[in-house]
Amino acid sequence: VSLKNFNTFGIDVNARYFAEINHEADLAELFADPQWQQIQRLVLGGGSNMLLVNNFEGLVIRLNIRGIEHRISHDDVYVEAGAGEVWNDLVNYCVTRGYAGMENLSLIPGSVGASPIQNIGAYGVELKDVFESCRAFEIATGEFRTFTHADCKFGYRESVFKGELAGQYIITSVKFKLSLNANLNLKYGAIEQELTNRGIEVPTIKDVSQVVSHIRVSKLPDPSTIGNAGSFFKNPVITLREFEPILAQHPDVVNYPAPDNMVKLAAGWLIEQCGWKGKQVGHTGTWKNQALVLVNHGGATGEEVYNFSSQIIDSVYDKFGVSLQREVNIVR
Ligand code: EPU
Repeated sequence: VSLKNFNTFGIDVNARYFAEINHEADLAELFADPQWQQIQRLVLGGGSNMLLVNNFEGLVIRLNIRGIEHRISHDDVYVEAGAGEVWNDLVNYCVTRGYAGMENLSLIPGSVGASPIQNIGAYGVELKDVFESCRAFEIATGEFRTFTHADCKFGYRESVFKGELAGQYIITSVKFKLSLNANLNLKYGAIEQELTNRGIEVPTIKDVSQVVSHIRVSKLPDPSTIGNAGSFFKNPVITLREFEPILAQHPDVVNYPAPDNMVKLAAGWLIEQCGWKGKQVGHTGTWKNQALVLVNHGGATGEEVYNFSSQIIDSVYDKFGVSLQREVNIVR
């Protein structure tokens, strides 16, 4: 089976076996198969945060569990969605009904089931701000378990599902806690700017959703026309001591305060300073409006993109002494 249409980078590799999961019961069926424990597995949601480097000799499990339900209790709204729902469809479901909390996360590619794994975030809001719990299938035992917020150990683009429990669970549904009372997060400068441009003084969550979508479209390539997986690297978080010499040499370095006296640098800025912004190398390159996003100009192999990302890591290290970490999952 070709995976080209199942990963937003549009990398053309094949999977040996492929299973589509439409209901939780389908997982129990797979579990009953004698091969289940041995076979190499790859769980796919929207395939929007991975780089496929080789043909996959194991079983690709495509999560397609659908359904969105909500329950209102006083001013709180609990929304539960199947792992296979498209993330932005869920955002639209909530925004159109006036359920507040996810509007800043509009237009993020990918599926609901993938959203907790890397604690997706944008424009001042992270998934952890609206997450209530999730249900997941344990690969080793075939049992379902509910993970609370605390169980997930969310961090910046991190969770227990990427860390200590990596590869052990398959998320089947996620429950969110939203509110009927909007508490808008407009901290991110570009949002305020665009609201002003539109002459909106008292924004609604629909306004914020539209503005965020507009900003994303203007900066980020649309995966349906140019393959990409969003930010390829994380924004590096360094100590004040590491930051001081960088600031001394580069007074305009884009930086934000981070918890515990740390400093977060804008990886896109670091990469641009190294001259990579908008550069095309073979079939790959960085996006012209956002150097943090690597793109497939058509026909790129996973290896090619990976090697290009290594070149970027090396040059940022040479110039700034900062090690960029990849944010997308590299699948070999
Ligand atoms: N910048 C540059 N050159 C570039 C790109 C960015 O100088 O080529 C500078 C910008 O001028 C800005 C700063 O870097 O001052 C930050 O840029 P931006 O607002 O575009 O956000 P980012 O830090 O590059 C992060 C997330 C995005 C998210 C945006 C908005 C990560 C790894 N990325 O990017 O998430 O949409 O903030 O909140 O944290 C993703 O994870 O896939 C993703 C797209």
